[in-house]
Amino acid sequence: MKAQIDKKQVQIAVMGLGYVGLPLALEFAKSGFHVMGVDPDKRKSRAIIQGKSYISDIEDSDIKQVVNKGFLKATSDFSALSDMDVIFICVPTPFSKFKEPDVSFIIDASRRIREFLKKGALIILESTTYPGTTEEIVLPILEEGGLKCGKDFFLVFSPERVDPGNKHFSIRNTPKVIGGVDKQSAALAKRLYSQIIAQQLIIEVSNPRIAEMTKLLENIFRSVNIALINELTFLCDRMNIDIWEVIDAASSKPFGFMPFYPGPGVGGHCIPVDPYYLSWKAREYDFYTKFIEMSAEINLNMPRYVVQKIFEALNEDGKSISGSKILALGIAFKKDINDARNSPALKVIDELVSRGANVVYHDPFIKAVGNGSEYFRVESGVGKITSARMSRKLLTEQDCVCILVDHECFNIPFIVKNSKLIVDTRNVTKNVKVSGGGRIVKI
Ligand SMILES: NC(=O)c1ccc[n+]([C@@H]2O[C@H](COP(=O)([O-])OP(=O)(O)OC[C@H]3O[C@@H](n4cnc5c(N)ncnc54)[C@H](O)[C@@H]3O)[C@@H](O)[C@H]2O)c1
Repeated sequence: MKAQIDKKQVQIAVMGLGYVGLPLALEFAKSGFHVMGVDPDKRKSRAIIQGKSYISDIEDSDIKQVVNKGFLKATSDFSALSDMDVIFICVPTPFSKFKEPDVSFIIDASRRIREFLKKGALIILESTTYPGTTEEIVLPILEEGGLKCGKDFFLVFSPERVDPGNKHFSIRNTPKVIGGVDKQSAALAKRLYSQIIAQQLIIEVSNPRIAEMTKLLENIFRSVNIALINELTFLCDRMNIDIWEVIDAASSKPFGFMPFYPGPGVGGHCIPVDPYYLSWKAREYDFYTKFIEMSAEINLNMPRYVVQKIFEALNEDGKSISGSKILALGIAFKKDINDARNSPALKVIDELVSRGANVVYHDPFIKAVGNGSEYFRVESGVGKITSARMSRKLLTEQDCVCILVDHECFNIPFIVKNSKLIVDTRNVTKNVKVSGGGRIVKI
């Protein structure tokens, strides 16, 4: 297989053509591998075949370029797996209503692979999950077919670190951690990834559990530090200290400090979800992850804190939330992306609507919420939100404009100049100087 990898003669399948799978499939296709994207969502496989992107930082031309040359294909038919030498699993790992890991997509993908597993194939799980998943779930399912890992097929966990919207880091220049079930599995995966990532950026660890835990550590590190800064935001508010100025000042320390910023809460597929994967697994070992639980609680409170800020700011203007007109600026879970999964902005809107506010939103990356948008799922329970086009009239009509996402395309001076009241959850109004602008309240 090593020689075939070097000659780019291996057939690659990527299961799951979402925010993780599509960029990965594109990278291998661009470097000359034949890649088959496999996704039960026919809208996605069809879009790929038509050369259309549904992810904000991937252009149609990126897809067309490799589809037209025959390097990238897509299907919803799992029998395509039968010819594959390498299969990446990039399926969702959400949590249940009770915040317990839902690994059903990994189980389903593993069963599909088992049905078509070719002798000698390399399987790589990239979905984020709790330590033990590769060896306790994927491995036994694959071996049920009679083939033996390390001899008849090879198995690796390698966490995806893609950061949608990040203009500096992509798959190619982000170090890749690899944990093989055995030495040969790891060696094959290293060889494969080194076709798209510089060899010195590939880090082999002792086993899949280390690689699985590495990914969780990275995301829990973020969750805990964001919670710390959010908690200090509550305190600074009470003490009348500007937390943003404090963070800027602390950031001048050239060692031992890394800035994290307050915001309306954490969103997306990773930070609000992954910590619970570890908490759940830890209980199997009679262990309670106190930091994780505490940080989740603080971060979950942030949307309510933002609503409280809006309530107080409107109150100062002699208005109540009920019946007030509020514009939510941005509903993506972070800047410059079209992903609103678990978005704290939706939770803020949800709370405002439940208190009787008339809320509209503006987000150039997300044109419609709910049924209006093909690839969008509302998970916050928000029933109906209207998307509005940005204009002077829109801003002047509002009692309050709440900046929930710091999309670079937002014209902040224009927004400040034409609004009566701005609640800024991202400190984007920091250096804005306009005459006659609205009152700014920061969280
Ligand atoms: N989005 C991110 O920024 C990010 C970053 C790092 C890691 N991750 C992790 O990567 C994994 C995938 O995340 P995502 O954001 O790409 O999810 P996504 O929802 O955007 O995409 C997953 C895709 O998998 C498809 N799918 C479901 N079951 C399948 C099956 N049995 N076979 C083939 N495809 C199937 C779905 O239809 C969907 O298109 C998750 O574990 C996530 O935590 C995500």
